[in-house]
Amino acid sequence: MKIMVVGGGGREHAIIKSLRKNKEITEIYALPGNGGMTGDAICVNIGAKDIEAQVKFAVENKIDYAVIAQDDPLALGAVDALTEVGIPAFGPCARAAEIESSKVFSKDLMKKYNIPTARYEVFDNSADALKYLETAEIPIVVKADGLALGKGVTVAMTREEAMNAVKYAMEDKVFGASGEKIVIEEYLEGPEVSVLSFTDGKVVKPMVSSMDHKRAHDNDEGLNTGGMGTVAPNPFYTEEIADICMETIFLPTINAMVAEGRPFKGCLYFGLMLTKNGPKVIEYNCRFGDPETQVVLPLLESDLLTVLKATTDGTLAETEVKFSDGAACCVVMASDGYPASYKKGFEITMTDAAKEFTYCAGVREENGKLYTNGGRVLGVIATADNLKDAVKKAYERVPEVNFENAYYRKDIGKRSLSALEA
Ligand code: AMP
Ligand code: GLY
Repeated sequence: MKIMVVGGGGREHAIIKSLRKNKEITEIYALPGNGGMTGDAICVNIGAKDIEAQVKFAVENKIDYAVIAQDDPLALGAVDALTEVGIPAFGPCARAAEIESSKVFSKDLMKKYNIPTARYEVFDNSADALKYLETAEIPIVVKADGLALGKGVTVAMTREEAMNAVKYAMEDKVFGASGEKIVIEEYLEGPEVSVLSFTDGKVVKPMVSSMDHKRAHDNDEGLNTGGMGTVAPNPFYTEEIADICMETIFLPTINAMVAEGRPFKGCLYFGLMLTKNGPKVIEYNCRFGDPETQVVLPLLESDLLTVLKATTDGTLAETEVKFSDGAACCVVMASDGYPASYKKGFEITMTDAAKEFTYCAGVREENGKLYTNGGRVLGVIATADNLKDAVKKAYERVPEVNFENAYYRKDIGKRSLSALEA
């Protein structure tokens, strides 16, 4: 069986490694993939946004199943285009992907269907937004409507900061069309939980919960990043909270999308905040999270391809989705200076063992050698029976990977371990 995976980061590497456990799969192509994956997939130089080329490649190479892992191709209709030529593909159609690509759409959906989220207002011009901010309660959160590489959200602790965020998006147009509309929403507090789920539009099967560490530096200081590390499961997400989320958030969301004529198939990611008034949705993503996938998929005991296909075929109810009782930790090794400015092009060396427990992201290959090629270079992963051991093992593995200018957080999992001990 021939599979193609669209995307090129650590998440895609984790998906590919998990798919490789299925012995019926003979070839995996990564479009474009990255140089660090070459032992696991055949990288094809087709960009994640080039839908036309993806479809052509899939047809010419008789791909049996496509996995669209990244947000842009989903928003651009990769799944629709592949389905049209008879190639089944994992992920939502473009209309359903709007749950991530438009914050205005997702907030209005939650309001209409009573799904708990932060109170909000939508603005399409800066004058009204700035006027609103003059009397709004601070702290407050300003979000660009569209996709903005994870940089469209400002959690403003002062009125000035909030006003600057509005000007940045609407007057300086830093996010282009993504900032033509903005959402200004209530500031929420509480532990954050990521819950990725499989859904075929009818049933929803949550994966093991996880916790991202978004800030660049230890103790959650520094700039927001794409994610500096993850642990799974997330100890704040108890069984009782999981039940509440299923009833008040997960099922209502799946049903709302059906009612709107946009049934969602694929991986729906719930970014939740556990507030003192109950769990609330911070954001939806229409895809696997990065670096959440790097800790969630190593704990999946069921065959990944079988589950992915069940979401496409509408047979998820009859398909087992089983996770181990263990735990996992991912420590992201980044280029020093990320997410602001950083140097790249340094040679990466790693032990043979490390090739098995690293998921590559910003990595390039040349003449058999690996070089850093991005901010987040790779993730070092470990699984164990419990979280404490998984964290310990991941950090013990970090020295097995070396490159100049390497930077990583020293406290991934610390907050979760404290919660377990409390
Ligand atoms: P997002 O890109 O929507 O995930 O937002 C990035 C981060 O901003 C989240 O992970 C939260 O830590 C924070 N954030 C987003 N919305 C809120 C909110 N309403 N209240 C407090 N923090 C928020
Ligand atoms: N780790 C957050 C995301 O994938 O959006």
